[in-house]
Amino acid sequence: MPTSAFIHTTSELTIENGSVTWESPSNIALVKYWGKKEHQIPANPSISFTLSNCKTVTTLSYKKLSSPSDEYQFEVYLEGKRQNDFKPKIKTFFKRIEQYVPFIKAYEFKIETSNTFPHSSGIASSASGMSALALCIMSIEKEINPNLSDADFIKKTSFLARLGSGSACRSLEGDLVCWGTHKEIKGTSDLFGVKYPNEVHENFKNYQDTILLVDKGEKQVSSTVGHNLMHKHPYAENRFQQAHDNLSKLNKVFKSGDLKSFIEIVESEALTLHAMMMTSLPYFILMKPNTLEIINKIWAFRQVSGLHLCFTLDAGANVHLLYPENEKEQVLDFINSQLVGYCQNGHYICDGVGLGANLITD
Ligand code: PMV
Repeated sequence: MPTSAFIHTTSELTIENGSVTWESPSNIALVKYWGKKEHQIPANPSISFTLSNCKTVTTLSYKKLSSPSDEYQFEVYLEGKRQNDFKPKIKTFFKRIEQYVPFIKAYEFKIETSNTFPHSSGIASSASGMSALALCIMSIEKEINPNLSDADFIKKTSFLARLGSGSACRSLEGDLVCWGTHKEIKGTSDLFGVKYPNEVHENFKNYQDTILLVDKGEKQVSSTVGHNLMHKHPYAENRFQQAHDNLSKLNKVFKSGDLKSFIEIVESEALTLHAMMMTSLPYFILMKPNTLEIINKIWAFRQVSGLHLCFTLDAGANVHLLYPENEKEQVLDFINSQLVGYCQNGHYICDGVGLGANLITD
């Protein structure tokens, strides 16, 4: 599909003003996106569980300008407070999407956003935040062009969200979303995320994700810097191939329900992501001592209990604990008795797989 298919062409703007609110969740990758080409094209395919409780709620108010502006006209508020340090990232996003939604220069915007998870929790809000903003902008397009189908709405929103933050294109739908062309998964594209189209075994329904907040500080390495480390990385090509292979394996696992293989693939992906950072130049260690303590405890617990608890990591020190819903009680007991001590101020967030973004109507 050519990117030109996403260009909005209606020139007449009869909508004077309005306001729209969307909530959009975060997601947790099972096969990681790490490394990109120009225009936010991923170096390898990825797949994620959409989350349910960790989300961003964004209201976009818009008012038509008397004449289109040269600059983007917007203000941003986080939890009711003006947030000027968000502006550069949003400006870059607007610059990247303007050719597809040229009407953004014709309006002034007020962006009011809040997260259901604490801002300083070390949980990335870019996936939920950028997808919520892309949804709001697409709602304006839908008002201008009511004939836009639901399928095209989602596809273009994902396309735009990707230009804000790659992983944001996987947050619109649930419960599993793929992004990046993979030869065995029909409909996959480098340009937008698609709902995983194949059969998913009962074992993965309502899978749980408890996020242990090991380090709530600012990210040590921004995603942009992190992805760039994969250029000239000595292991990059093998890593990209490994992601294709792991997605092929997961494709089989989702059908069979083989939790043992699921655990092996997911943990290997998490450690590979961190291995890529440790072996780049400059190199980084994003795990903290408590991250490793938790991982060792999980392995010991799994051996003794025979349960199917595993971990994954983002580009930081927090640990996502993934497990089937029917093991929830024992896993929560284990977390409360053995893992809370490794969390900053004993904080963790209970989440599970969700179904994607929602339009909030008054
Ligand atoms: O969307 P970005 O550019 O912030 O990259 C996200 C990268 C990881 O979270 C580490 C992996 C992923 O696939 O979500």
